[in-house]
Amino acid sequence: MAKARTLGELGRGETLPDRLPRSPVPIFRSWFDEAQQHKPQPNPNAMTLATIDPDGKPSARVVLCKGIAEDPGFLVFYTNYQGRKGRALDANPRAAVVFHWDHFDRQVRIEGPVTRSPESESDAYYHSRRWESRVGAWASDQSEPIESREALLNKVRHTAERLGVDLAAAVGGQPIEIDRPPHWGGYRLWLERVELWCGGIGRVHDRAGWSRTLTPAKDGFEPGPWSGTRLQP
Ligand SMILES: Cc1cc2nc3c(=O)[nH]c(=O)nc-3n(C[C@H](O)[C@H](O)[C@H](O)COP(=O)(O)O)c2cc1C
Repeated sequence: MAKARTLGELGRGETLPDRLPRSPVPIFRSWFDEAQQHKPQPNPNAMTLATIDPDGKPSARVVLCKGIAEDPGFLVFYTNYQGRKGRALDANPRAAVVFHWDHFDRQVRIEGPVTRSPESESDAYYHSRRWESRVGAWASDQSEPIESREALLNKVRHTAERLGVDLAAAVGGQPIEIDRPPHWGGYRLWLERVELWCGGIGRVHDRAGWSRTLTPAKDGFEPGPWSGTRLQP
């Protein structure tokens, strides 16, 4: 975002509505969709996911957001349940994510509790993936040490053999059936707090945060009403 050359220029740029909407989700959704459509970066659905390890220390990594359910309000990402983030979420089932769309000068922060996706949903997504990714989900003990790159490649080859993958057919584009590993699937991050940020000239950015109460319910959480406020940048 540019420097201000005059006082009048301070804060110019995109802003949130003067009167904040009741819910931040439609704006978040429109920003996400705009980034997906314009693809100013190769993975506009990438988000930095922060979790808390069992020893209480924070850790963060990038994952892809594979779904947004506006109602009741959660994000979906897929991963290995037994890797470092999986173990962190077992111990502390809460997370924070950040999307940064640099090209649009926008940031979205989301925080809330995390639950595992229903098995049927994880199955459907797993089966939509390319065969290499499906083999990889079986082959990789995510976050565990391995002695060499070669050992990893051998592990992938042996796993493909063990699963009975016909490599010639797979490479030729024929459908390959592989069951989803039970240790791999989706998580839902429930929207409990959302912050929208857009960059303004002279660093007079526009920023607002919303939060709501989530009450545990049968399939996750029942959300209460949003309460939002503008925040100083
Ligand atoms: C652009 C990008 C997208 C990624 N997407 C995923 C993803 O959707 N799921 C995943 O498990 N790891 C993904 N990764 C790898 C993670 O950042 C991370 O290395 C891996 O999940 C292991 O993290 P952990 O040891 O904290 O569990 C992605 C990495 C990048 C750079």
